[in-house]
Formats: sequence, C-alpha cells, structure tokens
Amino acid sequence: MAGKLIIGNWKMNTRAQSAQSLLDALLADSECNQSWVGVAAPSVYLAMLAQRLQGASLQLAAQDVSGFANDGAYTGDVSAAMLRDVGCTYVLVGHSERRQYFAESNPLLLAKMNNALAAGVVPVLCVGETLEQREQGDYLQVIYQQLSILVDIDAGDYLIAYEPVWAIGTGKVATLEQIAEIHSAIKTWCLQNAKPSANIRVLYGGSVKAENAESILKTDNVDGALVGGASLDAGSFRMICQAA
Ligand code: G3P
Repeated sequence: MAGKLIIGNWKMNTRAQSAQSLLDALLADSECNQSWVGVAAPSVYLAMLAQRLQGASLQLAAQDVSGFANDGAYTGDVSAAMLRDVGCTYVLVGHSERRQYFAESNPLLLAKMNNALAAGVVPVLCVGETLEQREQGDYLQVIYQQLSILVDIDAGDYLIAYEPVWAIGTGKVATLEQIAEIHSAIKTWCLQNAKPSANIRVLYGGSVKAENAESILKTDNVDGALVGGASLDAGSFRMICQAA
C-alpha cells in the first residue's frame, strides 16, 4: 500500500557475518529492497551495512542517538551527525526498552529528537503503555505525557511509533480496535498540540508477524510497522513488507 513504512528493529542482535547475510537476503528481495523499508541495526555494524546499501533502495536506521548535540567527551555515545555521516535515514528515539533499562527521560528524548532533526536524520519517537498502565485505564494519559515533548519541537519531519510494551516480544499483539483507538488519539493529539501538526505518520509495533501484518497495516491511521523479532528472519520480514 502506498506510503506504508516498514522498519525492522534488530535490537541487540546479530554479528558482523549474520548482519551482512541478513541484509544481503533483503537486498536480493524486491519486496524488501524498497525505499519504504528500513532496518535498524546495532550501531557497531551501521558503517559496514551502509557500504552494502550503496545504490540500494532499502534504508538504514539507528536504534538510538546521543542527547548531546556536538562532538566531545561523551564516551560511548553516537551523535546524530555521525548517524547522518554513515548514511542513516531514520533513528529510533525513546524505544520502551531504552526507557526501561536506561531511564530515558522526556528532557533527554527531546534533546535526541532535536539532534536528529538538526542532523537531517528522521527520528521515530516510540511511545506506548505498560500492561499495568493499560489495566489501570490511564494508558492515554501515559501516551500523551510521552508525546508532550513534541510541543517543544518547532518543525521537522518526524514519525511516531506506538508500541504497547505488553505486546513487545510477547506474541500478544494489540487488537485492531486497540490499535485504531490509539493511533487515532495520537494523530488527534498531534493535530491539536504538535508542530508540524499535519499528517504525522504513526507506525505500530509489538508482535507484528507475517500472519497479522496485513490486517494491522489496513487499520485506519496505521502508516507502517516497527518490527522486532520477525525482522531477524528474512522470510518473515519479506512477508510483512509484502503486506505493506
Ligand atoms: O521496535 C519494535 C519492537 O519493539 C517490537 O518487537 O519482537 O514484538 O516485533 P516485536
């Protein structure tokens, strides 16, 4: 479907050889080697993979970016300018696993968003509630609080990914009704509060698989998918790209 964006999030997986093999399989597949498909590889392999992507349509993404705008004494960090320099089109910001394990705060995520935008790398702001927050019923307030940093972004091309934490890696995908509700709420919130307000694309992530991708991607206000586990298998990822 026109305009759907599929990004595979490899997370902390692969080694140089397996990353190359997986990428080569995607490059050899016309369903995956498309400008609306991207892979978010571990940062240590980005430069190597970028070499293999020369002349290809498939896009490169990073899984994180530094909150520091300029080069300097920030051991271990990777700047947005470096991601741009190596050829990244997209970068994930605020993935739930980074919020959970690295205590990423809204001020830090705002800095990361602005750094990516300034460097010309399209940030994908990840939002989503935990199972406890959903069961308590205040999941929309949680998501609005995560979105609130967008009020302080003046302009730029960014994406949002709705990833209910309870659906990530669990095989328990959100229902189409839940997806429709949240995607609509996110877009309404953005129209009323964010800049640029128009036409912000929202991806869904959380147990997207070959067998459910088509129905998810056909759901109103779903503009693509952020795929974890299934992106590590070329055949599964192909079928998800085929559904887009
Ligand atoms: O960023 C996408 C990821 O969090 C979803 O993981 O394995 O549920 O597709 P998975």
